[in-house]
Amino acid sequence: MLLTRSQTFDPIVTLFSQKKKGRLSIPLILAPMAGVTDLPFRQLAHRYGADLTVSEMVASQAMIRQTPKSLKIATSSREEGLEAVQIAGSDPEVMAEAARMNVALGAQIIDINMGCPVKKIVKNGAGSALLRDEKRIGEILLAVIAAVPVPVTIKIRLGWDETLLNAVSVARLAESLGVRCVTVHGRTRAQMYRGKADWEAIGRVKAAVSIPVIGNGDVTTPQEAREMQEVAGVDGIMIGRGSYGRPWIFRQVAAYLSGETGDDQPSLQEREQVVVDHFQAMIRFYGETIGNRMARKHLAWYTKGMVGGAQFRKEVNQSADSERSLALTLAFFKDQQQRRAA
Ligand SMILES: Cc1cc2nc3c(=O)[nH]c(=O)nc-3n(C[C@H](O)[C@H](O)[C@H](O)COP(=O)(O)O)c2cc1C
Repeated sequence: MLLTRSQTFDPIVTLFSQKKKGRLSIPLILAPMAGVTDLPFRQLAHRYGADLTVSEMVASQAMIRQTPKSLKIATSSREEGLEAVQIAGSDPEVMAEAARMNVALGAQIIDINMGCPVKKIVKNGAGSALLRDEKRIGEILLAVIAAVPVPVTIKIRLGWDETLLNAVSVARLAESLGVRCVTVHGRTRAQMYRGKADWEAIGRVKAAVSIPVIGNGDVTTPQEAREMQEVAGVDGIMIGRGSYGRPWIFRQVAAYLSGETGDDQPSLQEREQVVVDHFQAMIRFYGETIGNRMARKHLAWYTKGMVGGAQFRKEVNQSADSERSLALTLAFFKDQQQRRAA
């Protein structure tokens, strides 16, 4: 049977149609974070209720050259839930080609990075540098939207700096060209990650367009999620650093926004299971050596603030062998259980 256009699966419609999901809470999204939101971490976030996850940004130039790193970043899996792949770049044709390749590899949504403040990216006219060039934004959007059959979304900041706060204008332009959803990080490029995200300014973008707006910046607790929703009236909430070492934050926020307490902490046993599963998934994904090295920062986040955590991190950071790292992790959690029992 042929599907009509309206019956075709549309990830953005699915994401924002709460009735269908029978949930009170708005969609929760794992932010794209280079070096963090690889496939293993995104799968974990899905397991804990993230409605959409976004890959690390993949440089469009590297993507079209099919470098091993870019192909790794672009790996997505539809099994756990909705996944967007984020592309960065400044050349419309290169970005269109990178988008096409990502869709061929399975991306359900193409997100375009217009917020990265890092010098290396900005000096090439990509990331937040695009906010200074709306003409270029228009060219990129036209090229990418024409190139792929999946929804195209953008992630922006409030503007370049205090003198160029153009998030509203960029969001309107994007909407007019067919972008399906805008995520706004409530800081300017000049702020980098300093200061506090301005949720009211995110609300001004929400009020200016009809497409869904996702709010982002400084949500680390269920209460902050509610506050952002109230202040900005956003259609979805994106969480980045608040998920470090606690992918269960999505479960807690969803519970709280649905009227529950949202303070259900995972048991020590559940934590241990998550850490071990995550570690093993990283070894499978990256291989022994790289996986072991890349897992260190996650192990550090998981054990932050726990008794004996500093000593554990010191040892695991020196372990070049994944079996030893796993043994150290199991011993650390056994020790935690014994402390609790004592
Ligand atoms: C380590 C790190 C890497 C990031 N990488 C990306 C990226 O690849 N693409 C992007 O759009 N934003 C990136 N960001 C920005 C986050 O997506 C998010 O906008 C920012 O951290 C604010 O949200 P938060 O307060 O919830 O962390 C990154 C942030 C961090 C901390």
